[in-house]
Amino acid sequence: MPSNFEYAHEHRNEIVWMSQNTNTIPTSPEIEKAILESVKSKEYNLYPYAPGIFGLQEAIFKDLGISQDEFDCLITPGGIEGLYILNRALLKEGDNVIASDPSFMPIHHQVRLSNAKVKELPVYQEPWRLTEEQVKEAVDDKTRMFLLIDPLNPLGTPYTKDEVKAFCEICKDHDLYMIDDITYRDFADSHTLTTEFYPEKTLIAYSFSKNCGFAGMRIGALLAPKDIMKELKPFNTNVLSVNIIAQRAALAALQTKEQWIDRVVGISRKNQKAIKKCVEGIEGAFLPVYPSHTNMFVIDISETKIDPDEVERKLLFDHHVFVRGGNYLSKRFGSRFVRTSFSIPEEQCARFCGAFPKVIEELRK
Ligand SMILES: Cc1ncc(COP(=O)(O)O)c(C=O)c1O
Repeated sequence: MPSNFEYAHEHRNEIVWMSQNTNTIPTSPEIEKAILESVKSKEYNLYPYAPGIFGLQEAIFKDLGISQDEFDCLITPGGIEGLYILNRALLKEGDNVIASDPSFMPIHHQVRLSNAKVKELPVYQEPWRLTEEQVKEAVDDKTRMFLLIDPLNPLGTPYTKDEVKAFCEICKDHDLYMIDDITYRDFADSHTLTTEFYPEKTLIAYSFSKNCGFAGMRIGALLAPKDIMKELKPFNTNVLSVNIIAQRAALAALQTKEQWIDRVVGISRKNQKAIKKCVEGIEGAFLPVYPSHTNMFVIDISETKIDPDEVERKLLFDHHVFVRGGNYLSKRFGSRFVRTSFSIPEEQCARFCGAFPKVIEELRK
């Protein structure tokens, strides 16, 4: 029997892909044009200019509204690579990092590779996000870093400006690095960068995968204060730069963003509303966070006593709808939920809403 991912990729064109918070809602034809022009000109014959194609860094700074006088930017093959670089560069044995559980666990794995520990603070309860009290209590003299994923994968919870400020103050008091993972920022109604309160030690993990629908392009960026970036650079594995076609696509996406981002977020919001209605009709299922301020949320099915991995398998193999069981996102809480993303065309979301109740009823027996 093939693994879920092997099966899903084999049947890629028939699958409703809701398992990885990717985005398949159309954006701008300008992006495809930029990709095709890059291919046609065969600029891929050369290594790209190491700091990135002209204009890309500037476009990222403009998107964030932060100053190139204070911050440096490293173009990376995905936000995850920037996180890897900073974790390897800044952490050492004995350090600990404050993070949430559930979370995007590959980052925690990177922390452990540096022989540091992750203090995973439970957030699978009201208010479904980290609180100031929780963080204050967890910080000790070995804490070096705070990982803020805002809004949060997988729950979809956003942080308010006051909460962000409070976290920044804790970081300032204890001289911590603040990692501002803003992968899902564009899906939130409002968002506050930690640079607003704590620019001196904020590092931003920047992604094109979810908002722009570029998961397969593998492009992102890492932003850090200039003095900290000096410490990170020796750990940069991309000294020969990053895929040129992805860079062209990224620049075109930022240059046209105003034309398509509202539509992407709007369709995602409509889809989550449809899923909410579907979940309300299922006994023993509920949404901890609604509306989600990301392009995904968690459906809690713990009362049904059904194994989320079974739901994942059955939805995939019987209905060609691919969601994720929670175990990948939390050892402690993952058996209680499935995570589904919804930045997909509406007709595909309707397929989920048709299949999900059926799968739950079949597995209840
Ligand atoms: C919180 C978080 N950070 C980083 C990433 C990695 O994003 P990228 O595709 O830009 O490497 C993900 C991907 O799912 C994520 O959820």
